[in-house]
Formats: sequence, C-alpha cells, structure tokens
Amino acid sequence: MIHKRKKVTIIGSGFVGSSCATWILARDLADVVLIDVNEGLAKGRALDLFSASPATNSNVTLTGGSDYSLAEDSDIAVITAGLARKPGMSRSDLLLKNSEIMKNICQSLKTACPQAVFIIVSNPLDAMVSLAHQILSVPGERILGMAGVLDTARFKAFVAEKLNCSVRDISALVLGGHGDSMVPLTRYATVGGVPLSVLMNEPDQKKLIERTKKGGGEIVSLLKTGSAHYAPAVGVVEMIESILKDQKRILPCSALLQGEYGEQGVFVGVPCQLGGKGLEKVVEIPLNAEEQNLFKSSAQAVKALLKEMKELLK
Ligand code: LAC
Repeated sequence: MIHKRKKVTIIGSGFVGSSCATWILARDLADVVLIDVNEGLAKGRALDLFSASPATNSNVTLTGGSDYSLAEDSDIAVITAGLARKPGMSRSDLLLKNSEIMKNICQSLKTACPQAVFIIVSNPLDAMVSLAHQILSVPGERILGMAGVLDTARFKAFVAEKLNCSVRDISALVLGGHGDSMVPLTRYATVGGVPLSVLMNEPDQKKLIERTKKGGGEIVSLLKTGSAHYAPAVGVVEMIESILKDQKRILPCSALLQGEYGEQGVFVGVPCQLGGKGLEKVVEIPLNAEEQNLFKSSAQAVKALLKEMKELLK
C-alpha cells in the first residue's frame, strides 16, 4: 500500500505563515508549500525552514513560490495573507484591503485545490472566513476560521499566570466573534478538573476576561509594527493536527452555523469537533441567559461587519 505524506499549503509567508510552517515542521505533520506574492520571500523562508529539518528530526519537505499550481492536491490550505493591524487600529479597519486580497487568493485556490479543508486566519477573521466561503463555495465542513483556539490559549495563559498553576491543567472555552465581543465562558473553565470559580474570585475572572478580549491589541501596541504571530500560528497547527491525524479534538473555531446556537448562515466561534473530514460536528453546550445574550450580541457584531464588507465590495 502506498501512503502519501499529507500536504499543507500556506498562503502568506509573513510572520504568521512562516510560524505555521515552523510548527508543522517541528511536529513532523505534513509537507508544506508556502505561497506569497513575494516569490523570493516564500522560497527563502521555505529553504531556511527545510534546512532546519535535520535538527528537528522531521521528514517533511518545505517549498515555496508564488504560483498557485503549487497548491495542487493539498489536504489543507491555510490563508494568512493580508495586512496586520497597526497600533490604534481595530481588526475591522483592515476590512477593505484584506477583502480584496482574500477574494483573489480564494479564486486561485478554487482552481488549485478545491478538495482541501480551508483554514482562514486573516483579519477581520469572521468576515474573512465568510467571504472565503462565498468564493470557494465549499461545504461548511471544509472551511473554518482560526480565532477561538488563540483567544482560549490567551485566557488559559492569563489564568495560569494569576493562579501560579500549570497551563496544561486548564480547560477553557472562548466563544463568539474574534473581536471585543468575544465571550470567554468562565463557567465552563476548570483547572485540573476544579471549576475556576472555586479558585478565583469574580473580579479577578472579569479582569482576565477583559485582558483576553484585548489580548491581540496588547501585543500590537507593544510591537508597534505588526501583530501577534507565535500564538496564532500554533493555534492553526492545533487545528491542522486534529484534522490530519483525525484526533477529533474539540476546539473553538469560527464555523458556519446552520441553526446551532440559534444562528443561521453566519460564521462565529463555537466549539467544533475536528477530524479527518474537517469540521465533523458543532458541539452545542447549554448557555445561561447572560451567556446567551453575550453570544447573540457577538453574532450581531459579526453580522454588522459582514454588512459593512458587502457595502465596501459593491
Ligand atoms: C490577534 C490577531 C492575530 O488576536 O487577531 O493577535
């Protein structure tokens, strides 16, 4: 029997794209193709990473270029291309420019690898994944946005720091859009199986929620140029690994809701089971009245962003 290695194409060889490639290499997950309008950047980053493979004991290849035919037969295509925020900008300030970039990329990928599972990372996330879905016209099982894994990881890191405990013991969940309206569900958070509410008072929980919501912005204002990339990239790779290895993990992702959580035809962050088919199930969990309201207003914020995008693209 012939087993082929898995293949992941990453569009955009900037910090997020090349960090994704680094983690895929480190975890020995798949052959990687980096595609970028800047051909030299894609080729150079791929060659640099490939040269790291003897030291990482990996058996994957990394190649790069600007031609979309390189993406043929990809199992997964990740779109990271687009402008990043500058200090003082919100994710939605990127709307017009990144919509144009996303449209062009998706048109090319539609021809090159229509069978792939698509993971969108560019901002504003929930609008970009929705636009990609329109252009790629793939079923909802094969298109996801990466945001919840990142937001949840930030929340877990802040909790671990505050409680002086291991991040590994923290289980948590952030729902909703990737913006100020995101909904960290502290009621479902546990540390080594102990509910967070037993270990942390409410004012402290609220502070960590606020810090999580502004986590991306905190980094943008420190960096001055560019935005976070290590944690976003490893978030993408958590999703990739669950799909390629059919791990069936439950990870929060921006997914097309088709009645779940009372929403129809909109991409919002919810717990998703990811396996060999891509999105295998949207996991519905009971929300109390307050959580429901917060989720609803987060979905409304995403819809408002979509409306704005539609106007801009007219
Ligand atoms: C962030 C950007 C990548 O949250 O959206 O850091």
